[in-house]
Amino acid sequence: MSERTLVLLKPDAVRRGLIGEIVGRIERKAGWSISAMELRSLDQETLEQHYGEHQGKPFYEPLVAFMSSGPVVALVVDGERVIEGVRQLAGPTDPIAAAPGSIRGDFGVIVRENLIHASDSAESAERELKIFFPGLV
Ligand code: TYD
Ligand code: MG
Repeated sequence: MSERTLVLLKPDAVRRGLIGEIVGRIERKAGWSISAMELRSLDQETLEQHYGEHQGKPFYEPLVAFMSSGPVVALVVDGERVIEGVRQLAGPTDPIAAAPGSIRGDFGVIVRENLIHASDSAESAERELKIFFPGLV
């Protein structure tokens, strides 16, 4: 069944010139397609909504500061099993634990600067897509 997920290329990915590399990996998966894509800076309110589940954790404040340190690329990706699939392409949260071949494994070192966000479930995807692309049908 076709799904839809929210992907963010984080400020480190944009600063390091990795937009094409990362979007290319997503784009090349058979049957997946990008239905929206935008470079934008995130305000505090958007980040509070997006990362609400992490409020109060020790990494929350530095995470929000990092996510507002420069523009991100927000994408909507559509396709078969795309929610689990983009998480697999990204690799685990800690880039050192992420296997080579994954986006975080190939390009990341620091947990906070792990290049990409991808919705972790159908419920998260629905919630996050509303935050970033409220006009989407
Ligand atoms: P989380 O939702 O646990 O990871 P993921 O992005 O893989 O779904 O955490 C959100 C982001 O918070 C994560 O991508 C990087 C940052 N973070 C830290 O900086 N330190 C940490 O210890 C954790 C767990 C996350
Ligand atoms: Mg998460």
